[in-house]
Formats: sequence, C-alpha cells, structure tokens
Amino acid sequence: MATTIVPTEAHVTSRFQQIQDLERAYLLQNYARYPLALHRGKGCYVYDTDGKRYLDLISGIGVNSLGHAHPRIMKVIREQAGLLLHTSNLYYHEYQGRLAERLAKVSGLTRTFFCNSGTEAMEGALKMIRAHGNSIRTGKHEIISLENSFHGRTFGALSITGQSKYRNDFEPLLTGIRFVPRNDIEALEAAVSENTAGIVLEFIQGEGGIYSISEPFARKARELADRFNSLFVFDEIQCGVGRPGTYFAYQLLDPVVMPDIALIAKPMACGIPLGAIIANDKAASAIKPGMHGSTYGGGPLAGRVALEFFDILDELLPSINAVGSYFRMRLTELMRKFAFIKEIRGQGLMIGVELTFPCKQLVLDGIAQGILFNCTHDTVLRFLPPYILTEHDVDRAIALLTKILKKIKTTQV
Ligand SMILES: Cc1ncc(COP(=O)(O)O)c(C=O)c1O
Repeated sequence: MATTIVPTEAHVTSRFQQIQDLERAYLLQNYARYPLALHRGKGCYVYDTDGKRYLDLISGIGVNSLGHAHPRIMKVIREQAGLLLHTSNLYYHEYQGRLAERLAKVSGLTRTFFCNSGTEAMEGALKMIRAHGNSIRTGKHEIISLENSFHGRTFGALSITGQSKYRNDFEPLLTGIRFVPRNDIEALEAAVSENTAGIVLEFIQGEGGIYSISEPFARKARELADRFNSLFVFDEIQCGVGRPGTYFAYQLLDPVVMPDIALIAKPMACGIPLGAIIANDKAASAIKPGMHGSTYGGGPLAGRVALEFFDILDELLPSINAVGSYFRMRLTELMRKFAFIKEIRGQGLMIGVELTFPCKQLVLDGIAQGILFNCTHDTVLRFLPPYILTEHDVDRAIALLTKILKKIKTTQV
C-alpha cells in the first residue's frame, strides 16, 4: 500500500484537485487511489467529475454486478427507501427469510446469516469453526488456509490470509493457523490432523492473482474435512455469486464439491453492503442463540435489492459464460501479439492477464484511454466486469487494450 501513484496531467483538473486535497487533508492515508474521481455511471460505463466516460471492467472490485443505474435495481431502491430502510435484527421484515430461502436453493446449503461485508462474513465463519472444534474437544482449534490467499482485513480474516504484506504490521495474529501451498495435496495431508477445526479455501484466488484450485485438491480437502470432522469453507466473496458463470465457483466441478459453509458478499446487492454466511445444518448448529449478531446485517433495503439481483442473475448466467469465454478468446489473441503477456486465467467474468512486468502503470494508461481495470499481485491485470457486459463491450475493451499495450511494448518489457 506504500506506492504513490503520480497522476498524469490529463487527470488533474481543478475539480479533481479539490476532491483530492480534501481527502489528503482529512482521510486516513491507507488507500493509494488512482487519480480519478467518479461522479455517475450507466450500464458498463462510469463518468468522472468532468464528464469523461470510462468502460468499467472492474465494477468496484466485483461489486457493481449489474453495472450502474440498472433500472430494476433503481426501482426497488427507490421504493424501499420510502418504506423501510432499517429494522435491526430485533424484529422480522419481509426480505431476510425470502433471501435466505433463495440462497439455500442456489447453494445446496440450508441456513444463512447476513452481515455487511466479506471480512465480516469471514469473521463469523471463523467463529463457527472455533465453536465447532471446541464442541468436540479442547485443542481442536486449528485452521488450514492457503498461501497467497486473501480473506479480508479484520483480525480473524487477516490471520488466515496467506500473504505477509497484509499481515506483517499487525502481528501477533490468531494462533493455530497452518498455511499450505495451493494444489499441494501432500502438504495439505500433512497439515490436517485431529486438531483441525476448519479448512478455508478460495476456489479461485482473487487478490492472489486469479489462480484456481485444482479439482483433486478440492476433493482431497473435502475428504480430509470429513475424515477429521472439520468444517470445510469456500470463500466465494470474490469468485462466487454468478461471476464464474455458475451461482458458486464450487459448482464448476461435476460432481459438485459441497462445502459446509460458503461465504459471499461483493456482487449480491449490486453496491449496497451485504455479506452472508451460508451453512449446512452441521455447520449452522455450531452457533446457538446469542453467540453472533450484526446490527445492520440483512436489512430490508439490502435484502430486497439482493432478491431482485437474483431474479436478474437467473437470466444472466448463460451470457456471463458466453461473454466471459469471448473475452478470454480475444485476450488470447492479444497474447499472440504481445510476447510479454504470459498467461490468461479465470472463469466466466473473473479474468486475470499475467504480464512479465509490474502492471500498475498500465492501469494509469487505461484511465487515460477511458477504460478501468486494476492490477493485482503486482503483475496481473484483473478484470471483474459487470455481468451485463456484451461482446460489443469486449471488442471495445480489446481495441483500447491494444492501444495501451502497443505503447508500452518497447519501453517496459
Ligand atoms: C476472497 C475474498 N475474501 C474476503 C474479502 C474481503 O471482503 P470485504 O472487502 O468486503 O471485507 C475479499 C475482498 O476483496 C476477497 O476477495
């Protein structure tokens, strides 16, 4: 997070400057923002405070799943704002049960807890893991996670995040965490024991550079969790909820490898904060009345928006697959033109393009050209576009990317 990005002149307007100056004066300086202030969006495009248009291929890091100002989402937000925004969890409202029923149907799991973000979902899951282990015997509290994983910024989530750059400043973190390399079945077998209370995996590592776990690794993790009576958790906060072209990334496998718990957040309420822990009966039984809660979690606004989102998602899944394949095919064409593109990875509309050099400057070049994507794991261009992306949008993206890549070809490789 220490890198400072030097804005190109084109982006330093007086309006932008005012916004930046205020933030620099009054905000905690934890974000290295790009030099761009956004004002509004429509479909797959966003507009900055000067009215310049950008093709949005990052969608708020995988959050604006139906793009911007989607008419059906706008309608339910407007209606619900005039009815009831918040109830707390002291009372019932019309949408939590309905949304939990919907999640049970699409996930194959049974019970949901609602919260407000990915990291909060992870915290709840870690409590379920610990409570499950403790209910069996003292000492059964270890958690297995992957090297290079990312699970959030709060203490528990950070403790199982397998990248030291996020953790170092905050040690000591939770104890009893064992990290294994992705897809290393031997290491996984060696790490799991009678003391293991839970195994947590991202099916596709997002912040870690768009790397999928292999089918044998996923099946072995499930088998070991069963053998040692541990809870098996898929963190689908970035890679799930339609983004891979299925409701959940674990459904890409046939037969499906079912987790005991699936965690979701980002795209589910199209920009309204909402996260969830979806559990089977075994995992859910770890939490008894009074053991967990959230003031805002699963409020009527977020719940209603998410229900509308799932209605729309049902129809969108085939196109997420088709447009995602088309995007990867067009990127593969680029790979043939530019030797510094090492690999194209991903599923559906979660795509990583690995380069042979750090790609932060390319993100700035993208902003200058009117296209938004980001750079993760230093050398991976990451695309998490809205699910409404069309082949036409992909063609435009490829044209813009070609322009950008042509410029940097000789200078940066
Ligand atoms: C896989 C994964 N887990 C957890 C999180 C944390 O989510 P949030 O930022 O909503 O707390 C993220 C965020 O990027 C993520 O990608």
